[in-house]
Amino acid sequence: MAKIIGGIGTSHIPAIGNAIHKGLQAEPYWKPFFDGYPPVHDWLATARPDVVVMFYNDHGLNFFLDKMPTFAVGAAAQYASADEGWGIPAQPPVGGEPALSWQLINTLVDLEFDIVSCQEMLVDHACTLPLKLLWPQGDWPVTIVPVCINTVQFPLPKASRVYALGKAVGEAVAAWGEDQRVLFVASGGLSHQLDGTRAGHINKRFDLQFMDSLLTNPEWATQFSVHEIVEKAGTQGVELLMWLAMRAALTAAGPSVRKVHSNYHLPISNTATALLALETA
Ligand code: DHB
Ligand code: FE
Repeated sequence: MAKIIGGIGTSHIPAIGNAIHKGLQAEPYWKPFFDGYPPVHDWLATARPDVVVMFYNDHGLNFFLDKMPTFAVGAAAQYASADEGWGIPAQPPVGGEPALSWQLINTLVDLEFDIVSCQEMLVDHACTLPLKLLWPQGDWPVTIVPVCINTVQFPLPKASRVYALGKAVGEAVAAWGEDQRVLFVASGGLSHQLDGTRAGHINKRFDLQFMDSLLTNPEWATQFSVHEIVEKAGTQGVELLMWLAMRAALTAAGPSVRKVHSNYHLPISNTATALLALETA
């Protein structure tokens, strides 16, 4: 049977891609951000995931405003990446895990989630940067199953619905008959707003409360409407819904999780960056 080993939430700001490309990790601006990752690399070296289920939001690469699924699951054998306009280098293609993709798709539809299945799919910075941050040496040691949650074009799914989706994804993985070690990754956030009169909005107090809730009270954020989350965390801060899905997925492995490591640093670009690695009991 598949084994759920843990979950990781991480920011995906495009500028990270350029910082890696230019080797700026030790610069004073970047060091407090990149210093968060080595303890997680150490954990990954012992936890040895085979497959990553990646919760992320597409930013206009694979889906554009003309066609915007609320939830979409990749079912490709390979995922090429491209830059949707940030000027960051594309990463090498990453292998898919079609058998797990179809396990997820079948289970989700059976549980009455009306998802879009994608047998061809381009992945953007929100999918590739977490991989690059977690495995900086290149050559991906994992395959992926992308799970896209719309946080780009309103109406967005409610936090409670995202939690339910994450829980269903966890159940689907737990029921997968293959002897594979599965890691959930959540890509996005935390608080940030890139445009409008509140551009630059950051809410450290809320971010830390949210991160803490993932350990102590995973459903805490489901009390908020999407508009309340936007108000607290910013228009793009709603990406924290990915983290909620990741934590909900972990419930399939048991009621509690152990914190491996966390980091919180602001700002990078206009964003409060965060990293949280959780291990199942
Ligand atoms: C930034 C943050 C994001 O989440 C994103 O998708 C694009 C840009 C930023 O802070 O620059
Ligand atoms: Fe984003």
